[in-house]
Amino acid sequence: MDKLIISGGSSINGELRISGAKNSAVTILAASLLGNEPVRICNVPHLRDITTMIELLGCMGIEVVIDEKMSIEIHANTIKKFTAPYDLVKTMRASFLVLGPMLAHYGKAEVSLPGGCAIGPRPVDQHLRGLEALGAEIVMDEGYVKASVDGRLKGAHIFFDVKTVGGTEHIMMAATLAEGQTIMENCAREPEIVDLADCLIAMGADIHGVGTDTIVVNGVEELGGCTHKVIPDRVEAGTFLIAAAATGGCIKLKDVMPEHLEILLLKLKEAGADITCGTDWIELDMHGMKPRAVDLVTAPYPAFPTDLQAQMIAMNTIAQGSATVTETVFENRFMHVHEMNRMGANIKLEGNNTTAIIKGVETLKGAPVMANDLRASVSLVIAGLIASGETEVDRIYHIDRGYEQIEEKLQSLGAKIRRVAG
Ligand code: UD1
Repeated sequence: MDKLIISGGSSINGELRISGAKNSAVTILAASLLGNEPVRICNVPHLRDITTMIELLGCMGIEVVIDEKMSIEIHANTIKKFTAPYDLVKTMRASFLVLGPMLAHYGKAEVSLPGGCAIGPRPVDQHLRGLEALGAEIVMDEGYVKASVDGRLKGAHIFFDVKTVGGTEHIMMAATLAEGQTIMENCAREPEIVDLADCLIAMGADIHGVGTDTIVVNGVEELGGCTHKVIPDRVEAGTFLIAAAATGGCIKLKDVMPEHLEILLLKLKEAGADITCGTDWIELDMHGMKPRAVDLVTAPYPAFPTDLQAQMIAMNTIAQGSATVTETVFENRFMHVHEMNRMGANIKLEGNNTTAIIKGVETLKGAPVMANDLRASVSLVIAGLIASGETEVDRIYHIDRGYEQIEEKLQSLGAKIRRVAG
């Protein structure tokens, strides 16, 4: 297994282009199953989760053409098998999202349940309840969800019990080909859902209200193809901004959408960063200073994203003062805390492990560390950049799921980081 070796202590400085959003791209790949004509997706990041999704489409017999710029063209009508096997779904939860599009387009689908996950149980009850409300027959058999519908799905009124990104995306996709109108309430509002809707609309879908709590989908008989450019990855952008803030650096990100990062930018200003934004760039300058500690509570968009919580804890470990970080989206999302404490951080968990109290220390010390989750792993890279001495981050296949060429990007910003094959 590959490792990252980081010699910490220097700041992150320079210019960087941000890749396309992983969370948009994987869902849009699933949405391509709805089209009767080829769907071409551009600005797709080169990541393991994307390869997994392409592999999944490939094992259904679907023709996928990839060019050298990672534009992907999917010809869903070449589908031969309507099954998503456990081996692939277990490695990436988002692949479960092929269920609704396959069912809505072809009337049948068998998709393995994603199973447990390192960051809590992550059920799919809202997805299944929504599909049933649209008229799907759903049977659980040997770990698989076997779904079918006689004719087309039927529009329905759906109220989500929890704000779920995947659930909102799943039902919105399925509803595009349903007969009649679907009204979805208590929807998630993440930018990736808006990006997905833009792609579906370009394919011919009739969708209103995306980006608000209530989405209305008027079903159409068929969807065609389109060319869609994926939005920039706000989590990747946020991770680099936090790395620069934590190391007292100065960084300019290009190809970003600052409006998707509003709450993070406010928090980083609170930490003492000077931030300037244009339409598609963000510049952050810490002027070599240590950050001030900042409190935060994660919650669905537009509140602070859970996917940047671990990185902010890394910054807070060496900040001036104390911070309280509360995680409300996922259970069990503080795995990085124990590893950071091994590096000399002073973090205590409270409230049944939902709140971390971080007392800023002078510095962290490099150590061998690892985590079983994508964002926790990358937060350990930030901790390694801050620390004195050498940090070895193990199990970095988690990072490769969501960060394109992380070590090359960090090297270009002056970090001393290298990958060693394990
Ligand atoms: C997506 C993102 C992930 C991010 C998360 C929250 C993708 C590919 N992944 O994950 O990076 O961390 O949103 O912003 O886009 N829940 C239920 N029942 C369900 C579905 C979800 O109870 O049927 C719960 C989950 O356990 C969790 C909360 O709802 O506590 C939010 O999960 P959800 O928004 O669905 O996350 P994902 O879509 O899996």
